Amino acid sequence: MNNNVLVVVTVGLVLLLNMEACYGQLKIGFYKGKCDYEDVESIVNKVVNESFASDRSIAAALLRMQFHDCFVTGCDASLLLDGDTSEKKAVANLNVRGFEIIDKAKTALEQACPGIVSCADIIAMATRDAVALSGGSVARYEVETGRRDGLTSEQANVDLPRPQIPVSNAIEFFVNKGLSDTDMIVLLGAHTVGVAHCNFFRNRLWNFGGTGSADPTMDPVLVETLKSQCPESANNDGDVVNLDQNPSSSNVVDNSFYQQIRLNRGILEIDQKLALDPSTTAVVATMANDGVTFLNLFGKSMVKMGGIGVLTGTDGQIRLKCSSANAI
Ligand code: HEM
Ligand SMILES: *[C@@H]1O[C@H](CO)[C@@H](O)[C@H](O)[C@H]1NC(C)=O
Repeated sequence: MNNNVLVVVTVGLVLLLNMEACYGQLKIGFYKGKCDYEDVESIVNKVVNESFASDRSIAAALLRMQFHDCFVTGCDASLLLDGDTSEKKAVANLNVRGFEIIDKAKTALEQACPGIVSCADIIAMATRDAVALSGGSVARYEVETGRRDGLTSEQANVDLPRPQIPVSNAIEFFVNKGLSDTDMIVLLGAHTVGVAHCNFFRNRLWNFGGTGSADPTMDPVLVETLKSQCPESANNDGDVVNLDQNPSSSNVVDNSFYQQIRLNRGILEIDQKLALDPSTTAVVATMANDGVTFLNLFGKSMVKMGGIGVLTGTDGQIRLKCSSANAI
């Protein structure tokens, strides 16, 4: 091949690859100018504000929703799809809540500019807004957008960690998705809001590891309180307790989760182990001591989580309704 041709071909190839890269990336403000004169982010923000006014626990709902969406086939809103064997039907997802908030935002956006904003991006924007409402201005982070929606959702793909997972496996679970061990510690800080059902931690109260007694790493005062909320006879699995046992901040996105687990007041086994494991205890101490650092890192890690396995460019689709893929 003649040298000039080689140069032209190479330059062309490099340009093409570059275009692909730009085209396929998330960015802050992706929807600017794409929805007539409307501001997509503020349409979502308005819906989240209205929902928050009647239910201050929506940050917990949406944080868990985004986690469960992103760690199963990427942040593609596959969790939102209805179906007999869709992800929603997996045991790990039975208590995921907040779908109606995403639907409300989607309806408002379809009115403003049909077919433009993905359900996957709505999850990211709405979660950010709910976190900001629950944690104040320091908790607000800029989200990247430009995701597209997935076409399929299968219960069988749902492989989310159980609360008994060892710390090293939890780290591995995050590292496998391109996140770091610090991201794992920081994102588990989402357990600063929301609730857990008795069945996820009852064993720690009544029969830890077949011992017939409580988990010795749990504060005995907390054990007694929780025993009355979650009796041994498992007939109250619908009952819940706050993941953050500091009563003044159970619904606040802040660093008190780390303070609580350092006081042996973690609810889930993984929460408590995070404070005790030699590989995570130092970062936990840092988070417990500095709420601003935690909130800064939390936003950054949420953005990283929001980038897992995303569909961009012409991949996937922009769903018209978040609970079903578009008819072809
Ligand atoms: C090793 C990792 C994790 C495990 C084993 C785990 C496990 C759990 C379990 C068992 C519950 C209680 C569910 C229920 O009773 O309905 C829960 C709740 C929750 N999780 Fe996690 N989780 C993990 C990581 C995360 C991450 C990374 C986030 C978000 C960034 C998150 C956000 C939440 C929230 C906000 C709740 C409360 C939900 C509500 O109030 O409806 N979790 N988690
Ligand atoms: C939502 O509420 C926040 C906090 O009160 C406020 O700053 C923001 O302007 C509101 N957003 C919209 C679109 O109304």
